[in-house]
Amino acid sequence: MAAQLLIFPFWAVFLLLLHQVKPDLDKGGELLDGFTDGFAAPKRNNMSLSGFAAIDNSGLLCLTNQTSQAVGHAFYKNPIQFKNLSSGKVMSFSTSFAFAIIDEHGKQGGDGLAFTISPTSDLSWGVAGPYLGLFNATNNRNISNHVFAVEFDTVMDSQFGDIDDNHVGIDFNGVVSNKSIGVVQFMGSNTNKAVLNLQSGKVIQAWIQYDASTNLLEIKVSTQSAQPRSVLLNYTVDLSTILLDSMYVGFSASTGSSTASSHYILGWSFVVNNGESKNLYLDKLPNLPSVPKQNHTGIIVGVSVSSALVVILVIGLAFYYFQKIQKADVVEAWELDIGPHRYSYKELEKATNGFGDKEILGFGGFGRVYKGTLPNSGTQIAVKRVSHDSKQGLQEFVSEVASIGRLRHRNLVQLLGWCRRQADLLLVYEFMPNGSLDKYL
Ligand SMILES: *[C@@H]1O[C@H](CO)[C@@H](O)[C@H](O)[C@H]1NC(C)=O
Ligand SMILES: *[C@@H]1O[C@H](CO)[C@@H](O)[C@H](O)[C@H]1NC(C)=O
Repeated sequence: MAAQLLIFPFWAVFLLLLHQVKPDLDKGGELLDGFTDGFAAPKRNNMSLSGFAAIDNSGLLCLTNQTSQAVGHAFYKNPIQFKNLSSGKVMSFSTSFAFAIIDEHGKQGGDGLAFTISPTSDLSWGVAGPYLGLFNATNNRNISNHVFAVEFDTVMDSQFGDIDDNHVGIDFNGVVSNKSIGVVQFMGSNTNKAVLNLQSGKVIQAWIQYDASTNLLEIKVSTQSAQPRSVLLNYTVDLSTILLDSMYVGFSASTGSSTASSHYILGWSFVVNNGESKNLYLDKLPNLPSVPKQNHTGIIVGVSVSSALVVILVIGLAFYYFQKIQKADVVEAWELDIGPHRYSYKELEKATNGFGDKEILGFGGFGRVYKGTLPNSGTQIAVKRVSHDSKQGLQEFVSEVASIGRLRHRNLVQLLGWCRRQADLLLVYEFMPNGSLDKYL
């Protein structure tokens, strides 16, 4: 709660900025209706569904269930203006959505799902299997389709040039991708990455962003709420020839012949010509249908009187180390890939003379603010120490901080970075020597 109140002033500015660049699209902003605390489940009455697609009461969109040779489509019901009316050029757009692919048979399911921009929401010609419900043998790769899709494909169809059975591809007018890549999740840097299995049943968030000024299309994925810095797949293309003025946005999925996967969309945010779509808070999204629990084999341990002493010793040691670990500056993988700069606790402790009382600049709404000097650079900083009472939501809070850090505004004190230690969050700002800092913090 404290966290949300703390960031209120920043959000106020953020919302104001959003307001100034009013979206130039037909009701596309409605996708954000019900967007509270990063939750935006597709709303039944906002979406036009066909095939096997259905939205349940919690807002979970199921595109296909386990039925084989099935197709599901779900499009936002109104067409969206994609081109600048005077220049005729496609405008920037940004979308983030959370999906899960559950392969209930534990085999290679299929076939995949695709974020889709199409001139029509009626893709009844779309065939199941490798065509992902978007195309068929006759119209595949026809430039009159004007369909743009980002496929999350879990079957290797070599006749369509698929690189593997777990890839993301950029498709124009057909299922042969112009560029594709095996799906990996980055952990802190471009080089530290691990394969991300699309069919693991995990909720995966995807970001697709098109910058009209550079023609750069960027795709990111993560199993976390925060948007990673590392880009999974990028492609430079002027979408003005592919997209038409007025387009429908949504999703398509298909299953194949032998085994089938369920494809779900749990939340979705989309904006045209209006900055970045919002990050979805994955723990606030609708629940997926429960999967059978694994059996845990019970372990029975007999303890004799003599070994009881050993057990006590082990517990004592474990407790000691647990405490030590608890106090440590634990960095979780998701924290590394957020930016802005994450400071170490030691560094900030040194900078503020161990958070000494003499360094206190003031008491902000939610914690003390300390003056400090970074030991290496000599930069003067102000450190705000916020105690976060629950561990829950901390990740979301940090994501907010990170997105605020990317904002530049003359009325905002520049956030240089942050640090997390247990329940304490430390926010590091530029120090403003004219004493007006407490007004901002
Ligand atoms: C899948 O959906 C169809 C149509 O809604 C339904 O008839 C079928 O029973 C469902 N299959 C499974 C396995 O849930
Ligand atoms: C592409 O589609 C258009 C419109 O449906 C059709 O007139 C044309 O013949 C198709 N082109 C090819 C090469 O199939």
